[in-house]
Amino acid sequence: MADQIKLTVYRYNPDKDSEYRPQSFTIPYQKDWSILDALNHIKAEVDGSLAYRWSCRMAICGSCGMMVNGTPRLTCSTYLNEFYPKEITLEPLANFPVVRDLVVDLSDFMGKLKSVKPWIIRKNKKDDEDTSSEYLQTPSQMDAYYQQSLCINCTLCYAACPAYGLHPDFLGPAVIALTYRYNNDSRDQGRAERREVVAAENGVWKCPVVGDCTEVCPKHVEPSAAIQRTKVNSAVSWFFSRLSGRK
Ligand code: FES
Repeated sequence: MADQIKLTVYRYNPDKDSEYRPQSFTIPYQKDWSILDALNHIKAEVDGSLAYRWSCRMAICGSCGMMVNGTPRLTCSTYLNEFYPKEITLEPLANFPVVRDLVVDLSDFMGKLKSVKPWIIRKNKKDDEDTSSEYLQTPSQMDAYYQQSLCINCTLCYAACPAYGLHPDFLGPAVIALTYRYNNDSRDQGRAERREVVAAENGVWKCPVVGDCTEVCPKHVEPSAAIQRTKVNSAVSWFFSRLSGRK
């Protein structure tokens, strides 16, 4: 008989279930299959009602995240051969409300992301400024934010973050990392606007520096380092604003 592997998937249908229920599937083991390939096999061949998200299959869109044996992972870049012959348990990303099966509601994250204006803000635009031209940037200026620009909004860091689990109002790792990304872009002039959000009660100071966000980040964005640097920048800004009498 061909090799097989067992996947236990947490199911939840809001129209029928009052709580999550595990369902196990034993499927053929293919050593070059990702977990997402296995889920696609189950959906195509075994149970078409299984709900989960995916799009790019190449660790770019950030939509296929779920808890794999208790750890937040991208399932398109996590392979069965890492676990075989042991069983794999799949649950929806922790710390988010579940919509159905492995699909979570990301509205809270999207709202927080928008609140820090993750785009380049030009404040002192002159009337005659040619906005069709490029804003030039040196390689070293780009290095200042490049690492954080790799974030794909997969929210694995939120599923790993104990502070977000305890305090859902916390802005959270990816949003602060992306704040850092734009604040440190030489073309941007929006740091003061974003400071009102990141330095507020539910901003950087809620982070207890556990570092699990950095551990699980599939793109090595190092959100924990970005948060700690943002704390330093916020404290320095506050100090100089007091010295200068600015609010
Ligand atoms: S399917 Fe796009 S990141 Fe996995």
